[in-house]
Amino acid sequence: MCGIVGGVAERNISNILIEGLKRLEYRGYDSAGLALINQGQVLRERRVGKVANLEQAVLASQVSGSLGIAHTRWATHGKPTEENAHPHISGNVAVVHNGIIENYQELKDDLEALGYVFTSQTDTEVVAHLINDALKTTPSLLEATRQVVPQLKGAYALGIVHTDHPDELITVREGSPLVIGVGIGENFISSDQLALLPITNRFIYLEEGDIARLTRNSIEVFIDGQLIDRPVKELDATVSNASKGEYKHYMLKEIYEQPEAIKQTISQALNGNALREDFLASAIQDFANIQQVQIIACGTSYHAGMIAKYWFEQLIDLPCQVEIASEFRYRSPVIVNNTLYVCISQSGETADTLAALRDTQKRAAAKSLNITTMTICNVATSSMVRETNHSLLTLAGPEIGVASTKAFTTQLAALMLLVLKIGQIKQTISDTQIAEIVAELWHTPKVILDTLQNDKEILRLSELFVEKQHCLFLGRGTHFPIALEGALKLKEISYIHAEGYAAGELKHGPLALVDNDMPVVILAPQDDMLDKLKSNMEEVQARGGELFVFADENSGIKAKDRQHVVYVPSVNAILAPIVYSVPVQLLSYHVAVLRGTDVDQPRNLAKSVTVE
Ligand code: AGP
Repeated sequence: MCGIVGGVAERNISNILIEGLKRLEYRGYDSAGLALINQGQVLRERRVGKVANLEQAVLASQVSGSLGIAHTRWATHGKPTEENAHPHISGNVAVVHNGIIENYQELKDDLEALGYVFTSQTDTEVVAHLINDALKTTPSLLEATRQVVPQLKGAYALGIVHTDHPDELITVREGSPLVIGVGIGENFISSDQLALLPITNRFIYLEEGDIARLTRNSIEVFIDGQLIDRPVKELDATVSNASKGEYKHYMLKEIYEQPEAIKQTISQALNGNALREDFLASAIQDFANIQQVQIIACGTSYHAGMIAKYWFEQLIDLPCQVEIASEFRYRSPVIVNNTLYVCISQSGETADTLAALRDTQKRAAAKSLNITTMTICNVATSSMVRETNHSLLTLAGPEIGVASTKAFTTQLAALMLLVLKIGQIKQTISDTQIAEIVAELWHTPKVILDTLQNDKEILRLSELFVEKQHCLFLGRGTHFPIALEGALKLKEISYIHAEGYAAGELKHGPLALVDNDMPVVILAPQDDMLDKLKSNMEEVQARGGELFVFADENSGIKAKDRQHVVYVPSVNAILAPIVYSVPVQLLSYHVAVLRGTDVDQPRNLAKSVTVE
């Protein structure tokens, strides 16, 4: 999605803005631009395509300035063209914007009636004109912004500069993330702290409705016109763990980081083979009261939730529902007393999940229902973490590749910890069972490391996918969601059409698709469903389908004509989905690389989906 970087300093910040935008590239965008205030002028450059194009333009024009705003745009209103790229200017005001102004059309009609001429098809341009118009009644840029904000409907974050205010950057957060990077004699804003990590590790996280005024030496945050104190937080993320290192792509690096990421995630909760007493201690009373779980998530995070449903019900006898947030938020679901609502999200900012959470909280409050909310998230400072009663962090480190990998497997590890904790509190699982599962959990990083040894073999098999147009992924039980996840991975980065199915559903429709040209990926761990899965494999082979099987080394499944087998080290059946995620990630990665796609930033997609 769109990204914002801005700053006010004593030095020229054009490079800082460009570098910041580069660090936001992973979020997905189609054009980029910046505006710098210099000697009473707005100097603007905008380009379609990569930030590198903008960088070239800035180098060529030598624009510079110590106050400025920059933006990567992911088109919503109007095509990805230079005219639609941000910043948008009206008079002496320049504006960058993330999110959507829902009532832009009526605002635009009013502004046109006043004589304002629009040069883009964006919703953003209304903001620039509105502020310009408000400045007719006040000389203060902050006051003009305050007058405009109540007129805007939707979710947005703004960065605003003006030629007459060369030491002032105004920013607004209303439904779209925004942080202030606190420097020494200089201050910055961004939609993602990652953009500012090379400059500072001190951040102020704005809350919904905040309007802030930054100068070189001061930061004032206002809510409802009142000055308030927002704490400065120090972050220990380093610049290096957000870089590719020796890997060709972030995605590959992140796949290989999984053993360590899982180890980090589980270490926070475990003491030997037992759960630590202080793990989720503040939630103990709430967990004791819950009678069911409702998981809300999108995309890959939703698949993690699907697996957790099996775990909640099979291991601790607790009913669990899982739903895609974009459906949940709009279908007026019944909010049930004593339910634990769990948001799963890598970013903690996904618009649909956040809206579903807020709506649930509002409706529960309206009926005085007793619910508990919780987030499983990779970003400690995210909106979801801040807005739920409890949170459990996945300690995966920054995930830059659009395709979620280490965030997914750490979500699974975290979900297992949550299941065990709730089961322990409700006494629906014995300490011995907990100890057995925890011992296996500790072992998982090693099994993943061993699984990664298959990388070359998977690369070899991926060559057989390059020319394919379609692909099926099949699994049963907890590997049905892995089949969905495998299909999602393949389609999003290689652009091959792929579908995941519960293998038992094959003969209810998808079998009709199977022919000589259809690769079928099978997930075959050593579990209770293995024999049934083998029958499903026969069904595919009998129709000429070519099988690519990721199978337990003791499964007895052998390679034969049109049946390729990659053996996965034996792993406890309950935790097997964590391990079987890895070969499907590698397969998708290699197919995408061979097809020459933009692996880390696949077309049309964004890392953090902060608009609907
Ligand atoms: C999958 O690889 C995706 N990047 C996507 O499905 C993602 O999981 C989804 O957009 C949800 O994001 P979140 O975890 O940040 O909420």
